[in-house]
Amino acid sequence: MTDRAAEYATAEAQILAVLDGETHVAAKMSTINCLLKEAFPDRYYWTGFYLVDDEKPNELVVGPYQGTLGCLRIPFGRGVCGTAAERGQTQLVDDVNAIANHIACDSRSQSEIVVPVRNEKGDLIAVFDVDSTETGSFSDVDKHALEQLMAMVFATAD
Ligand code: SME
Repeated sequence: MTDRAAEYATAEAQILAVLDGETHVAAKMSTINCLLKEAFPDRYYWTGFYLVDDEKPNELVVGPYQGTLGCLRIPFGRGVCGTAAERGQTQLVDDVNAIANHIACDSRSQSEIVVPVRNEKGDLIAVFDVDSTETGSFSDVDKHALEQLMAMVFATAD
């Protein structure tokens, strides 16, 4: 196991312990943002969730986050978050300046990972977005750990 994978395992155990018995998505999302940002202060510059808007199903609306002001709404297909929502697949971007379809909420963000979030029925309910001020901050280790964490917190029966 890499150092980073071990750090994720520790953070995941902490998150699952804090959330034991908790069913509300706002509590779950806020706890994940806080504890991952504390675990990885250098790479988690902005961390947060964009929620699928029940009233506008092809649009994301900002949910719980930690960091500088985030965009409020993102249509499916736009930017890295909208692409993750439309395709239902994690997006890893080593250099946000090198891709056209990126929404710059904060010009300090240089690399990004966005992970789809599904409920126990398999419906997409949100995406989880992490931005770093350095290029190349995220890898398959982050992808694997975050996909596993999202499934354990949001897609398992409480
Ligand atoms: N960069 C994202 C937008 C959200 S902010 O980074 C908080 C994107 O391209 O979807």
